[in-house]
Amino acid sequence: MSSDRAEVGAGVENEDLSGRTILVTGATDGIGRETALALGRLGAHVLIHGRSSAKGEELLDALSETDADGADLFLTDFASQEAVHDLAAEIVKKYDRLDCLVNNAGGLFTDGCLTEDGIEQTFAVNHLAPFSLTVDLYPLLKETDGRVVTVSSDAHHGTSMNFEGLRTIESYSGWSAYSRSKLANVLFTYELADRAETITANCLHPGAVPGSGFGRDLPAPIRASLSLLEACQSRFRGRSQKASSRVQRRRSISPPRPRSPTRPASISRTASAPGRLRRRMTSEPSGGFGT
Ligand SMILES: NC(=O)c1ccc[n+]([C@@H]2O[C@H](COP(=O)([O-])OP(=O)(O)OC[C@H]3O[C@@H](n4cnc5c(N)ncnc54)[C@H](OP(=O)(O)O)[C@@H]3O)[C@@H](O)[C@H]2O)c1
Repeated sequence: MSSDRAEVGAGVENEDLSGRTILVTGATDGIGRETALALGRLGAHVLIHGRSSAKGEELLDALSETDADGADLFLTDFASQEAVHDLAAEIVKKYDRLDCLVNNAGGLFTDGCLTEDGIEQTFAVNHLAPFSLTVDLYPLLKETDGRVVTVSSDAHHGTSMNFEGLRTIESYSGWSAYSRSKLANVLFTYELADRAETITANCLHPGAVPGSGFGRDLPAPIRASLSLLEACQSRFRGRSQKASSRVQRRRSISPPRPRSPTRPASISRTASAPGRLRRRMTSEPSGGFGT
């Protein structure tokens, strides 16, 4: 991943997060790791979650070099609902405040498998785990008028919620399962924003970040195209920065505003109609994971 500071890219480097407690799931790699480090540099107390104690300890060391107001590690496999509930219970017991939950852990799994709960793994890890964690931590988040940020993906486009395939891996496709789980993230965020009284719910598409561990399971040709995409993106970024400074010199205008890192991502039709989907779900007799 780029060594650029995420908080600078996001234009929040002057924020002071001291006194805030923030949980980042999937913080032991990729986007989550960069997020945790940025939050640490801004002074937050960072709760990091992952599966690997080696990676977690290494991140705790890195966080100790920042201005973080403390950092704690939690190890939980999100493929188990029981483990997710245990994690939430531990956090509720240990902390008297939680200002923000970053639901970031997730991945694209090329091989299909069912979890111990009998659920297709991608849906369990990418959607059910953050869903249960958010619900369990809701009382704590409510006390601080907290935030829930869920890392979804543009991959939610072009898919629909197929509840049939949630308990089977027959005809499993990693990409379809991934897209569906990311659509569920968006729908969940809408629903949470609707229902939650004081907390703020957002989801996001982080852009293609091929340097993260995300593509590790993908076939080599797809990984190669992602690396190519990354190379093109950084070349393009370099070129557009040069272009901006040329414009500045020529016109001597005030510095150009960077492209907003928080601009709204486009939402698919299915994702933008959660009310319609909810009505359809509640009118179906075999509710599955319905509301
Ligand atoms: N990279 C991209 O281009 C891209 C694009 C769109 C959306 N996203 C989304 O961004 C989020 C972060 O992805 P990333 O690219 O940073 O991936 P990453 O580098 O692979 O990091 C994923 C994190 O999630 C954890 N994780 C994976 N499976 C888990 C499980 N069963 N239980 C608990 N933790 C688990 C990983 O733990 P381990 O360290 O133990 O593996 C790791 O900490 C994901 O939700 C992904 O869908 C990424």
